[in-house]
Amino acid sequence: MQTGVRNAIRTPVEELSSGMVIARNVYEPDSEKILLYAGNVLDSVTIFNLKERYNVENVWIKTDISATLKQQIKAEIDVHESLNTLKDVFGKDEETPIEELSDEASKQVDEVASDLISSMEMDDNLLLKMHQLQSYDDSTYKHCLRVAMMAVTIGKQMGLSKQELRDLAEASLLHDIGKRMIAIDIIRKPGKLTDDEFREIKKHPTLGYRLLREHGGYNNNVMNAVLMHQEKYDGTGYPLGLRGDKISRLARIITVADVYDALTSNRPYRQPWSVAEAEEFMMGGSYTHFDYEIVLAFLAAFAPYPKGGRVLLNDGRKATVINNNANVLRPLVRAENRDGTTEDIDLYNDFKYLSLAIVKNIKE
Ligand SMILES: [Fe+2]
Repeated sequence: MQTGVRNAIRTPVEELSSGMVIARNVYEPDSEKILLYAGNVLDSVTIFNLKERYNVENVWIKTDISATLKQQIKAEIDVHESLNTLKDVFGKDEETPIEELSDEASKQVDEVASDLISSMEMDDNLLLKMHQLQSYDDSTYKHCLRVAMMAVTIGKQMGLSKQELRDLAEASLLHDIGKRMIAIDIIRKPGKLTDDEFREIKKHPTLGYRLLREHGGYNNNVMNAVLMHQEKYDGTGYPLGLRGDKISRLARIITVADVYDALTSNRPYRQPWSVAEAEEFMMGGSYTHFDYEIVLAFLAAFAPYPKGGRVLLNDGRKATVINNNANVLRPLVRAENRDGTTEDIDLYNDFKYLSLAIVKNIKE
């Protein structure tokens, strides 16, 4: 299928803005080299490079952006807002540990929690937003935002009440805030921790709990979820060694979201696990690490490659997910060929493509 260029307009680079979609491949001036493929969404860095580095003068921009792409652009904008707000809460300067949660910070957490809940009510795909936050930068506040998106998605699947979802959102946004009270070199240490360092890290749920208690604006459900998010279902977690239902339900949900995010994120010392490997691990950890009922809800809500997301295929092509299939690892995708054409591929139902697979989510 040829990518349509009928609804496209030749646009000077000075007039480009983030979110616009490329209609025709962009070549380096006087060369065969393709700088950008049709279908790519522009961001500020790309626009800067086109102008300053490659001296491109004009590009063809789509005027009829599909609903999926609109959703993707909106998701990116929303995520950046939440992210900036949360960054303030966690303290802009990561080198300096925080000592308290200000009223202003607490209000900001409230706002991000409200945004998450209302975007979920509008049936926005939170998992799509979550994937856009995956990057090499492993700041605690980014991890917390991703965990919150996954946690409320699981909570919704489990049919939690509005108040419970709200508590869950707040607790997940703050679950690791205690880490910001520990020396940054321990938090960022890439290799194996010494026993002393590990003992120090293990204080973070209690430190976070105390921070919220001292602030005073949080109910027991939120505070207990922060305190208990490192507990394990079989009683081998910390800080209290609680078992089964003694661990607060919200904490059990955060644990599932937390571990999934840790496995699928980049770490300085290892590659991220594939979503298939992570899924396997979560199932294998039922009853020992996790509450089985919550793992089931996680699997039901699980969309590793959500509609509208961008992925890399194992033949090197980039693609956009058009729809999910019964097997969530093999959705329907629109792959982009090098010549600027596209091909719709049903990875699940079309046996021609059995050898084709998704390698990972990508950001553009
Ligand atoms: Fe934690």
